[in-house]
Amino acid sequence: MRWTPSILLHRMKKLSSDYSIRRIQQQVRQRVRLEQQRSDDRQFQEANRLKRLPLYLFTILDELKVQAIQEGKAVIDLGMGNPDLPPPKHVMEEMARRAKDPASYRYSRKSGEVERRLNEAIAAWYNRKFGVSLNPKTELLPLIGSKEGIAHLSLSFLNHDDVALVPNPTYPVHFSGIILAGGILYSIPIQADHRYLPNLRGISQDVARRAKLVFLSYPHNPTTAVADLKFFKDTVEWAKHYRLIIVHDFAYSDFVFDGHRAPSILEVPGAKDVAVEFHTLSKSYSLPGLRLGFAVGNADVLASLAKTKSYVDFGLFGAVQWAAIKALSGPQDYVQRVVDIYRNRRDVFVHGLQNIGWDLSMPHATFYVWAKIPLKFSALTSLEFATLLMHEAGVVVAPGSGFGEYGEGYVRFALVEPEQRLREATRRIERVLRMRD
Ligand SMILES: Cc1ncc(COP(=O)(O)O)c(C=O)c1O
Repeated sequence: MRWTPSILLHRMKKLSSDYSIRRIQQQVRQRVRLEQQRSDDRQFQEANRLKRLPLYLFTILDELKVQAIQEGKAVIDLGMGNPDLPPPKHVMEEMARRAKDPASYRYSRKSGEVERRLNEAIAAWYNRKFGVSLNPKTELLPLIGSKEGIAHLSLSFLNHDDVALVPNPTYPVHFSGIILAGGILYSIPIQADHRYLPNLRGISQDVARRAKLVFLSYPHNPTTAVADLKFFKDTVEWAKHYRLIIVHDFAYSDFVFDGHRAPSILEVPGAKDVAVEFHTLSKSYSLPGLRLGFAVGNADVLASLAKTKSYVDFGLFGAVQWAAIKALSGPQDYVQRVVDIYRNRRDVFVHGLQNIGWDLSMPHATFYVWAKIPLKFSALTSLEFATLLMHEAGVVVAPGSGFGEYGEGYVRFALVEPEQRLREATRRIERVLRMRD
């Protein structure tokens, strides 16, 4: 072959991009080894249950992000699902007003006025939204965010030889709660060609008999999959057969588009016999820092969760509870406006990625985009590819392996930046995708 100047230039570009990819691979592997080393060298050894937790990849990405900002890079952060929109004004006003009341600062008591009013507000909200009535005294429980409740639920039910079933990939607290509780984690791989729904009836009888909990979460983070009422109906039937508790994490109940509807599992007649469902104000009302979630459903399960919590926390700040009552009982048009904003962002971002040659389909739910790593980068792990995007494009994304080993090969984008920043992100990502051409 004759080396014309343009071929030479192309070769040189390719070599330099291969070089930076190799450098990034080395860096990531070194960083992971360092983390391992740090944990082995500690003066005070952590409990085994902590050591068994997988490496928290977001810590590494956060470090890289800080480093990039220090180097003067303008970072676009699509890593964490941390809503960026301002919360409803009436909720912030209530919070400010109640924060000035000294009574808000006392310990929260189950029998207190605001506690009773919050329970009633949750029950009324639930009934309006899903047509299911709840006994406000026994069938619901406020939480310091749904993540707290989900972790404590595993602690409330799992002995050392109890199995908990978890679709994989999934939102990390579903598996980390089990590991922290010392239970046995049994992963159920979920895949695109089965619409990311677990094949529960394919689980062996031996495993199903030993299992105590099964975790579900639809609309699903990270894959954006949705489940219909029929799927929940089948699951309830199956769980009753094996006497399992169903834990449904319903954080994205409002984030469905294109005519899809996200049913509550409690809409299935008889579901309360076996199911609890977790809700949060973090997403629909853009209140992630407020720390308010709640669980609804089976009264016995919730009583055990409340018992665990009574030994480890003192409930919620009074002002937070008043603010939550305002969010749940006040005008709800805010929620639809927010959902529309995320849908428009999704359109802009997904079309943007498709236009630069990234092969992916339009998600119908959540505010995430779950994307298979393009073929020419498929030799990289998702952490390495995420690091490459960070270094070369200043775009933070979540590596799929952070959601379990079956998330490997994917990255997740959280659409928590405005449209023009998402357009900018796709322009920067395009440069990375062209790196190896
Ligand atoms: C599926 C899912 N469940 C729960 C949570 C945590 O919600 P909260 O802020 O109520 O703890 C998140 C946050 O990203 C989530 O994606």
